[in-house]
Amino acid sequence: MNRLDGSARLMIVSDLDYTMVDHDDPENLALLRFNSLWEAYYRHDSLLVFSTGRSPTIYKQLRKEKPLLTPDIIVMSVGTEITYGELMVPDEGWKQFLNQKWDRNIVTEETAKFPELTFQSETEQRPHKVSFFVGKEKALKIIKALSESLVKRGLEVKIIYSGGIALDILPRGAGKGCALAYLLKKFEVDGRLPANTIVCGDSGNDAELFGVPEVYGVMVSNAQEELLQWHADNAKDNPNIIHATERCAAGIIQAIGNFGLGPNLSPRDVDLSECKMNSSSPGYEMVKFYLFCERWLRAEVEKSDQYMQRLRSVFYPLGIFVHPSGVEQPLHRFIDAMERSYGDKQGKQYFVWVDRVSSAQISPDIWLVKFDKWEQSGEEQRCCLTTVLLSLKQGEVQNGFTWMHVHQTWSDGLVTNDQTNFD
Ligand code: GLC
Ligand code: MG
Repeated sequence: MNRLDGSARLMIVSDLDYTMVDHDDPENLALLRFNSLWEAYYRHDSLLVFSTGRSPTIYKQLRKEKPLLTPDIIVMSVGTEITYGELMVPDEGWKQFLNQKWDRNIVTEETAKFPELTFQSETEQRPHKVSFFVGKEKALKIIKALSESLVKRGLEVKIIYSGGIALDILPRGAGKGCALAYLLKKFEVDGRLPANTIVCGDSGNDAELFGVPEVYGVMVSNAQEELLQWHADNAKDNPNIIHATERCAAGIIQAIGNFGLGPNLSPRDVDLSECKMNSSSPGYEMVKFYLFCERWLRAEVEKSDQYMQRLRSVFYPLGIFVHPSGVEQPLHRFIDAMERSYGDKQGKQYFVWVDRVSSAQISPDIWLVKFDKWEQSGEEQRCCLTTVLLSLKQGEVQNGFTWMHVHQTWSDGLVTNDQTNFD
């Protein structure tokens, strides 16, 4: 269930809408700051878990609309569906477990007696989740009456109200908190409990995440009233839960710093002219390089020869760059091209980020790094599967990587289950 060999250093379990994703920020600045922090410092030894109310259908939609990273585990449909890895392999054990004292036909029969309940779209009706819309004024009364009638019909359910509008009915053992407890138990059995876990949320369906024992928690600054009320009633003395002063993903970064869980300075918050061009972590190296490309094209760094000279010094003179179109060229020609394109994206919506950075140390000073390089220009997004061969120079003054070889392939960035199998 996990691509790491041992225990994760940090496991982040985050809600998506209005927690990881700020729908009021069209430039996705906080999310991009989080992404570079994660790929530079955490991806190689930590776990990213998304826990969302969305069904698989509208989760995939969101991934197309927003620069979300690929998580290691996804908990969807308010903790009723768990999948692992890029292939989104479902946890069958969890499905089985949720069948206890659950019958969605009985739920729909009973809810039909409340005309105030409006069915949500078909995509959001799932095997272990029945969802409606209902206004705040009516919600409490309906929840009470429904709970009683479903108990009478022999079911054990959980009714959750979120965002002052959405009402979900789930099996009693489901929900984001129960799903996280289940995952933690599995890790424990494997002897791979994450060293630290932090949960992040903004609304009612996130509340039970904050009740899971021994986790840190952050309610983002823009949290809904129903979550803040739950916290005031149930957890206000827990020092491991904070209400951030920053919105969404910026609140998550703030919490990492607040609890001292690891690096919390996003490479996006660093002035590249001040930071060393060289580093000795492959993840950080990739994040920094592509951030530099973004800023160079947007003319947000100064056009100085010094930068170009430094770039030339880290690209191996005989190195090759295989362009996604299949054309092969010397690496230094790539730098020439970059030099000419200074400011091409000035004043435009243009972002570059990397996802799924993984690296293998082939020998004491050679690394093979693989990742998805994403580029967004206006509405258009494209992705290149990228492989870079790095060699570590053990300099007298500082250590740093030399880029030996770069190979890119166009990709839609989304790995699917229905790829042809040539085995
Ligand atoms: C998401 C789901 C919806 C659910 C809501 C609150 O928006 O799409 O079905 O009711 O989360 O949990
Ligand atoms: Mg939310």
